[in-house]
Amino acid sequence: MIKINTSRAKQFLAEDEFRQAYQQAEDAYETVKRGSGEGSEWLGWRDLLADPNDAILEQIDSLAANIREQADVFIVCGIGGSYLGSRAVIEALQPFFDNDGPEIIFAGHHMSGKYLKDLIDYLDKPNEEGEQKSIFLNVISKSGTTLETALSFRVLRKWITEKFPEDVDDRIICTTSKEGGALNELINKHGFKKFIIPDDVGGRFSVLTPVGLFPIAVAGIDIRTLFYEAVSKYEELEEDPGQVLDYAATKFALFNNGKSLDVLTTFEPQLEALGGWLQQLLGESEGKQGKGMFPATAIYSTDLHSIGQFIQQGTRNMMETFITIESAEENITIEELSGNHDGLNYLSGQTFHEINKQAFKGTLQAHTDGSVPSIVISLDELNAQHIGEFIYFYELLTAVYCYCLGVNPFDQPGVEDYKREMYQLLGKH
Ligand code: PA5
Repeated sequence: MIKINTSRAKQFLAEDEFRQAYQQAEDAYETVKRGSGEGSEWLGWRDLLADPNDAILEQIDSLAANIREQADVFIVCGIGGSYLGSRAVIEALQPFFDNDGPEIIFAGHHMSGKYLKDLIDYLDKPNEEGEQKSIFLNVISKSGTTLETALSFRVLRKWITEKFPEDVDDRIICTTSKEGGALNELINKHGFKKFIIPDDVGGRFSVLTPVGLFPIAVAGIDIRTLFYEAVSKYEELEEDPGQVLDYAATKFALFNNGKSLDVLTTFEPQLEALGGWLQQLLGESEGKQGKGMFPATAIYSTDLHSIGQFIQQGTRNMMETFITIESAEENITIEELSGNHDGLNYLSGQTFHEINKQAFKGTLQAHTDGSVPSIVISLDELNAQHIGEFIYFYELLTAVYCYCLGVNPFDQPGVEDYKREMYQLLGKH
């Protein structure tokens, strides 16, 4: 279960401010439900939970199991919504070191030639048995034309074709739209395997389609639990959207109150990439028409020793969203040390998780005292079940909150501006 506590944000709001924002959140939710708002042709992320297609999960699972058996390295080549969701789930649920199964490497989300060159040098290096590593490549691009992804794919495709001429068609898996785009032309020409991204699901809302689910399954994570817990959350929120309305209204009222920055933070470093997913989901959805709160991310305690100072005492334009985990599966208990020379015996008998929780509580109190309104989201445990719930919760929250702001949650016209300038400089015809 995930719980949302908005009390430390609401204490900074007048009752009236919240009540008005709540009414707008109710209207915004109805707009999502009726599909009557701007961008309503992009509501497919709800439909795929309302009417689950188990056959696709089966297809993904079976190909992923096959690849897990054969691959040393699995490369995910994509940018923005085409990789942030899978990276978030994989990093949240895999051990920090020494994973079972293939090593997952992300590429195609920038244009560092050094990165690509270093990656190819690494792929060229023999495995522990002195043989060529077995490589599989999943290129993900809904448009099939995004330059960062397409260029990296061109280079990686050439390398993989030369290394594995006999079965290159099995080693390249493309995830793209049903039709159109340069990627579909390559698929038709070379016969690469293909997963389809539904037309009515935008990139940043696509983690529960093959875009996210396939790499997540290759990482050995149970995609059925992830997916069907999102389905349960969908059903729960259809019955009673109160949790989303409370959060959306609180955030919207804080925005109306002059807050322009939301620091998304956690004391769990394995959630760093989840922060990246949230940052894109919120940032690309709400940041339009001179509106929205800039979604910053921070990892504590690490960042308490850098930007923590600013959050405590800098410009008072921010709110904070804490993502916490109630109970940890693996933990280390502090042992009593004879002589107590490091002075830490006062902590003996406590686990790192318990101590980390006190760091969270202390920070929450300090930041409240420093006039930072905070929302706390707690997951009982860090597992596929709660991450599945979390994903749908945040997708719905984003849509509702954006309609409160009066912006289309599903487009990204600003992104097109940099692309246009870049293509002009590069001489694209
Ligand atoms: O959320 C979005 O729509 C974007 O972030 C896209 O996912 C990103 O631009 C990548 O686009 P594409 O999958 O078409 O390569």
